[in-house]
Order: sequence, then structure tokens, then C-alpha cells
Amino acid sequence: MKGVILAGGTGSRLLPLTTITNKHLLPVYDKPMIFYPIESLVRAGVTEIMVVTGGNHAGEFLRLLQSGKAFGCTSLQYAYQEQAGGIAEALGLAQEFIDRDKCVVVLADNILGESIKPYVDNFCRQDRGARILLKEVAKPEAYGVPIIENNRLIIIQEKPQFPRSPYAVIGLYMYDAEVWDIIRTLKPSGRGELEITDVNNAYIDRGLMEYDIISGWWGDAGESIESYREAFNYVAEHGANRLVQPV
Ligand code: G1P
Repeated sequence: MKGVILAGGTGSRLLPLTTITNKHLLPVYDKPMIFYPIESLVRAGVTEIMVVTGGNHAGEFLRLLQSGKAFGCTSLQYAYQEQAGGIAEALGLAQEFIDRDKCVVVLADNILGESIKPYVDNFCRQDRGARILLKEVAKPEAYGVPIIENNRLIIIQEKPQFPRSPYAVIGLYMYDAEVWDIIRTLKPSGRGELEITDVNNAYIDRGLMEYDIISGWWGDAGESIESYREAFNYVAEHGANRLVQPV
């Protein structure tokens, strides 16, 4: 299993903090934001990682993370996304690196209060397909929202005005090698981007998507200045990636 951390985008929702740097380099308490997804992956045993980024600050990631050895990475590679073509396009840049392996994809602004190892282990046991993680949240309309019937995923709606479940699809996705064919079939959305929600819906349509509902804390530090503050405060108070497993 290999890991991909997506750290591109313009960070427009955190302006002016992001005027002169990449969102994922901003501090969350005592560390740059991107440290948290790297630590989540390494602690789950995923130590071969690719960081996909773009824009004017890409070189800063190399300066900050270097070979990744300090985090326990056995390999840390970098890819450059030339324009803001969406999360699914960014993931497509990791195809050669992942090859026929399975992968765990994390959005670099997602911070988890618990170990992801149980969920990664569930995906290891899964023959094929994909797996997403859901978290009950107060404002699902800010995220991808799943419709679930009889414990099966029916569809994910991206930032729906009227959410049909209390869950958010968090920014951690697990895929088999079918994902590369799926990405090639995608059409740009209304905002001109290849959407990760369309990738997930393609797996749902093929009957190949599983999910876990996570019990620990989750924050999307890049969703708004308020969510950034919440993530910062959570980490300051509790730390992230605790090794204690939920019961
Ligand atoms: C993205 C996804 C959304 C998901 C969210 C989690 O949204 O499109 O489905 O719920 O990440 O962080 P974005 O943060 O790019 O608006």
C-alpha cells in the first residue's frame, strides 16, 4: 500500500493567510499542516508516499520535508500539478508512482484525532474496489455528503444545499488500481475541475465502494478560517494521530 498526499489548490478560502504561501504549509499549533497527514500515514504503516502540489510554493515542500526520513518514510516523492485541475486530476499524477498497488489518498488539510490504521487494515482485507471514511458533522453541506440506504452507499452529493444525511465524506480515500481508468473517464465539473466525488460515485455505481464511520475527531483545516481555528485548537488541546484505538 502506498500513500498520496494532495497539497495543491489555491487556498482561496484562507486568504490573506495564503497570499504568499501554500495553505498546507500554514501552522496548525506547533507543526506545519502537512505534517499531520504524513504522520497519519506513517503510523498506519504506509511509508512510501508521494506529495502532489503546485503553484509558486512547491519548492518549499522539498525544503521542509526533504527525503521524509525524519518522519519514517522509506520513500518520499514529489509531483507538480500545473494548474488547479481538481483533486482527481492531482491524483492522476501519482499513477506511475502507485502503479498496480493499492493506495491511500489524503487531502493535506485533513487532520485526524485517531489512528487510521484500523481503516487501512480493513481496506487491506478488501479484495478490490475502494473505501471511504465518513464522519457525522454539524454542517454536512460544506462537504461531500453520502446517501446511505440499508447500510449501502447510494451516491455522494458534493456540497448539497439540503444534505440527505448527517455525514461528511472526509478527505481520506482508499483505491485499487481501477482508479486510473475511472479518472480517465471523468469530465470537468461546473467549476472546471475533475472531482474526487465523481471518482467515488463511479466506484459506488460499480458496486465496489465500502465505508467506515470514524469515531474520533476529524477536521478539514482548509474549509474556512473557522475550521482552521478549530483544528488548531483541537491539536493544541489533544494532539493528533493518537495511537490509542477507538473501541
Ligand atoms: C473536498 C471534497 C469533499 C470532501 C472534503 C473533505 O472538498 O470535494 O467531498 O468532503 O474535501 O475535506 P474541498 O475541501 O476541496 O472543498
